[in-house]
Amino acid sequence: MTTAIIGTGNIGGTLARHLVRGGEPVVLAAKDEANATALAQELGELARAASVEEAIAEADAGVFAVWLDTMKELIASDGRLLENKVVIDPSNPLGFDASGQMTRTLPEGESAGSVVAALLPAGAHYVKAFGTLAADSLATAANREPRAVLFYATDDDTAAKAVERLIQTAGFEPLNVGGVTDAVRIEMPGGDLHQASLNGAILDLEEARSAVAANPSA
Ligand SMILES: NC(=O)c1ccc[n+]([C@@H]2O[C@H](COP(=O)([O-])OP(=O)(O)OC[C@H]3O[C@@H](n4cnc5c(N)ncnc54)[C@H](OP(=O)(O)O)[C@@H]3O)[C@@H](O)[C@H]2O)c1
Repeated sequence: MTTAIIGTGNIGGTLARHLVRGGEPVVLAAKDEANATALAQELGELARAASVEEAIAEADAGVFAVWLDTMKELIASDGRLLENKVVIDPSNPLGFDASGQMTRTLPEGESAGSVVAALLPAGAHYVKAFGTLAADSLATAANREPRAVLFYATDDDTAAKAVERLIQTAGFEPLNVGGVTDAVRIEMPGGDLHQASLNGAILDLEEARSAVAANPSA
C-alpha cells in the first residue's frame, strides 16, 4: 500500500515523516517537484517524488496537504483521477488579506470539507482529517503515551478504514466525529474540536470522547 501526499509543506512534510517512521511507503508531490524530491531524499527508500498526477495514480489514498484554493484547482484539473481513491483533506477555510492577516474564506458555518466533498467525483472516498492540530503540534505529538487523538469526519466506510490506519501508522489515535456535515467541528476558525478552539490542548482518547459528546451546536 502506498499513500500519496500532495503538498510537502508544514502539514504534508510532517505527515510524510511520521508515516515513513511508521513504515508506510509514500509518494510525494508538490507544486515544485524539487521540493518533493528533496523531502523524498531525506526520508530514504520508503519515499519517492512524483508529479501530482503520477502520485494520485500510484496510490489508493492521497492526503491533499494544500490550501483550499489549490485543492479546488487540483480537483478541477485531476478530478477524474480521484475515482475510487481515498481523498484525505486537512484544509481549513483560511486565506490572507492584502495586509497579510489570516481571514476566513467561507461563510460562518460552511466547512471546507463540505465544499471539497461536493466537488469530487461520485466514486471518490472523501474524509476530512489531519488538520485538527497546528503543524508544530502534529510534529511533536506523535507516538505519545497515551496517544494523542486526531479527529476525522466522513460518510464513507472505505475512507474511514483507510484514514484510521494512516492515523495509527502516523503515531496517533483516530476518533470519528461524524459525517461531512460535522467537518465544521474539526476545522478552524471556529470548530469546537480544533486545537485552536481548545486553547492549544492536545487530547487523549478519553478527553477527546468527552469533547465530542459535549457538542455545543447540538
Ligand atoms: N500549517 C498548519 O498549522 C495547518 C494546520 C491544520 C491544517 N492546515 C491546512 O493544511 C493545508 C496545508 O497547509 P500547510 O501549512 O502545510 O501549507 P504550506 O506549508 O504552505 O504547504 C503547501 C504545499 O502545497 C504545495 N502546493 C501548492 N500548489 C500546489 C499544486 N498546484 N500542486 C501540488 N502541490 C501544491 C506546495 O508546494 P511547494 O512546496 O512546491 O511550494 C506546498 O508543499 C492547508 O489547507 C491548511 O489550511 C494547516
